[in-house]
Amino acid sequence: MLDLIGNTPLLQLHRFDTGCCRLLIKLECNNPNGSIKDRTALSIINAAEKNGDLCPGKGIIEATAGNTGISLAAIARMKGYPLTTVVPDKMSREKIDLLNIMGVHVVITRSDVSRGHPDYYLDFAETISREKDLFYTNQFANTANIDAHYRTTGPELWQQTEGQIDAFVCGVGTGGTLTGAGRYLKEHNPDIDIVLADPEGSLLAPKVKGQSGMEAGSWLVEGIGEDFVPDNCDLSLIDHAFSITDQDAFQHTRALFSRELILAGTSSGVLLAAALQYCQQQTQPKTVVTLACDTGYRYLSKAFNADWLEQHHLAGDCETL
Ligand SMILES: Cc1ncc(COP(=O)(O)O)c(C=O)c1O
Repeated sequence: MLDLIGNTPLLQLHRFDTGCCRLLIKLECNNPNGSIKDRTALSIINAAEKNGDLCPGKGIIEATAGNTGISLAAIARMKGYPLTTVVPDKMSREKIDLLNIMGVHVVITRSDVSRGHPDYYLDFAETISREKDLFYTNQFANTANIDAHYRTTGPELWQQTEGQIDAFVCGVGTGGTLTGAGRYLKEHNPDIDIVLADPEGSLLAPKVKGQSGMEAGSWLVEGIGEDFVPDNCDLSLIDHAFSITDQDAFQHTRALFSRELILAGTSSGVLLAAALQYCQQQTQPKTVVTLACDTGYRYLSKAFNADWLEQHHLAGDCETL
């Protein structure tokens, strides 16, 4: 399973208005555990084994929106490390069910509190790691996360486009993907645009645009958007930033499936909406690459459930994009 992580396919989208650009999507949902976080989890565990933070039988704890927990669960199980994950209560049932059946100890905490509050998922995980002497993976600050994307995602994007990539559109959960892949790409061609796709309510896109004094809002998309700048997120790499509403994100997630048969999660809807806006603004042909970050099977009860969408006023019409 470990050998199947990464080297995901790159596909051109033909059924969206991409203006004069070519839009490619890298199918991170094809990783063996269903998301881009396979790369992060493997890199963090390998690095911890190498530097002695992990030894046989030691427990691991992670604060996660779900995907990192699922990837860690698979890898930790293979390697014999017991895992605890701290998950905010807005995360989808499918992810929590999966963690449970993988034998993970799941601790649910509040989504409605922010950094500094003892129930905030990151603070909570850090406290338990100290109390119980667990290895805290800390994907928000652990540089093995950045390294995963600098060593794999970035080079794959460069090789698969034969160096013809003009822009990379990506979200920020921890910043590992943006910083690692973005840094690799900029080192190979400083003219490549790194484009942040951010859920409306997150403070990252406003920060990039120099809008200060904003209060973080809330959003339903999972996995990306933050109310703080993670240590692993190098905002200086970003050339353009787009804030995408939940309505837009959910419509694009559904359209990606109905038009292209790519069943991806809601963060991919944010990335697709931002990528299309970027493409439509260009006056010269460009090759733009974005990601399908995780599998949509994890959101069948939400983005692909008519009742849930209705309840959250997100039903819209997926063909009025
Ligand atoms: C579900 C999900 N998790 C995480 C990320 C980004 O990961 P990170 O910033 O932690 O590298 C994405 C991507 O853009 C995502 O869609």
